[in-house]
Amino acid sequence: MEEHDFSSFALDDFGLENEQPAAPSAAPDPKLPNGAGLAVVDTDRAVRDYLAQQLGEGVAAEASLAELEQRFGMGPIVVVLGPSCATPADFAMVERWSRTNPEVGAILVTSELTTELLQTALRAGVKDVLSAPIDQMQLVDATGRVAEGLSGPIMATGSTGDGEGLEYLDGDPGKVLSVFSTKGGSGKSVTATNLACALAKRSDKPVVLIDGHLQFGDVAVMLKLQPQHTVVDAVSQIDKLDAVMVRDLMTEHEETGLLVLPAPLEPTFADQITGDQMKALVDFVRSFAGHIVIDLPAIFNEVVLSLIETSDEILLVAGLDIPNIKNVKIGLSTLALLNIPKEKLHLVLNRADSRVKLDVGEVEKTLQLKAAAHVPSDVVVPISVNKGHPVVLSATKSGVARAFEQLASRFLDGAVEVNEQSSSRRRFFG
Ligand SMILES: Nc1ncnc2c1ncn2[C@@H]1O[C@H](COP(=O)(O)OP(=O)(O)OP(=O)(O)O)[C@@H](O)[C@H]1O
Ligand SMILES: [Mg+2]
Repeated sequence: MEEHDFSSFALDDFGLENEQPAAPSAAPDPKLPNGAGLAVVDTDRAVRDYLAQQLGEGVAAEASLAELEQRFGMGPIVVVLGPSCATPADFAMVERWSRTNPEVGAILVTSELTTELLQTALRAGVKDVLSAPIDQMQLVDATGRVAEGLSGPIMATGSTGDGEGLEYLDGDPGKVLSVFSTKGGSGKSVTATNLACALAKRSDKPVVLIDGHLQFGDVAVMLKLQPQHTVVDAVSQIDKLDAVMVRDLMTEHEETGLLVLPAPLEPTFADQITGDQMKALVDFVRSFAGHIVIDLPAIFNEVVLSLIETSDEILLVAGLDIPNIKNVKIGLSTLALLNIPKEKLHLVLNRADSRVKLDVGEVEKTLQLKAAAHVPSDVVVPISVNKGHPVVLSATKSGVARAFEQLASRFLDGAVEVNEQSSSRRRFFG
């Protein structure tokens, strides 16, 4: 582990403006799943009192991890580590617990979350990292989640790194569907989000959506998600990825159960990610997901090439105008040069209305590719984008929704029928 001390922090940064701890907005339920106990640790008394108060009655508070250890052996315990615990010595101790004390689950609270700190903490076996300002509900939710894991199937023997608790698809890895286009703004993200939601509603296996538009991805916005973690966190954990981490790093789309790994919040983080890392991530995810949809940017760079090469199916999105068709033709020759088999390509004609001037048949002839989907131009699309509620969920009767549902059917063997009530939705974690 890197010898880096992250523990220095300003009390104000941490959200403690007053000397006196702020009163919690609502008394949280102190009962954790599985009868787990709760403890907070921080060298600063004001910080540990504040954290303990946020968590409710009966929370043990200790100044050091060594003192806390004396409480072990009395059943599952969730430990909330204050910012002063972000030291190499304390991380080493947490790392030891993750090997020897499967009944202990640690959460780190920090004043400032950096990629490096997140990596160090997760590598040490910390189950979740929360950054200031601390939201009481977030903290309570996190302790509940970690407590559940302590005796649940995922953590029955501790986080061993083998993803216990997830159903692995033995000998039947998930299908990777990349949504690509050589023209920006052609409708890739609209296609990727709608396809992923349609698959998640109907598939009996987990469906994962990865935002491969690392610089300016907008999958999270289109699904109205507020993710805690992004692709950057996931790729930095590839060598240690396990089921617990997957749950912690992906954001679940409540309505469909879709698991989403969004793009980095800062475009500069994108530069740190290589094609090999993305490929390794996708290879890991396909071991438990039935389908992995990847939204790509309209460029051929190293990351995009690796993802295209690793994809089972490539959906090429094209608008029905001359610049779009010209670009798709160029893109098709590039894909041919890369030896991508034509059978993998599926043309999605977007805004394929009778109102536009180009004839669909002519376009298919020019591209020597039959369209897999004709998505009409409809105002329901920008409305759904602005609401963060995909058309397949918000305007189910529209031609656009029907086109995306039909597209999804192509990739579902023996798919269950579309259920308007989304009762087929399944939770795969937690
Ligand atoms: N079928 C459609 N009908 C009406 N509007 C559409 C349709 N498809 C896409 N749009 C509009 O076009 C905009 C761009 O779509 P989208 O973001 O999916 O493109 P993109 O290819 O992902 O763009 P980028 O290259 O920037 O990633 C959307 O915000 C949406 O409002
Ligand atoms: Mg996009």
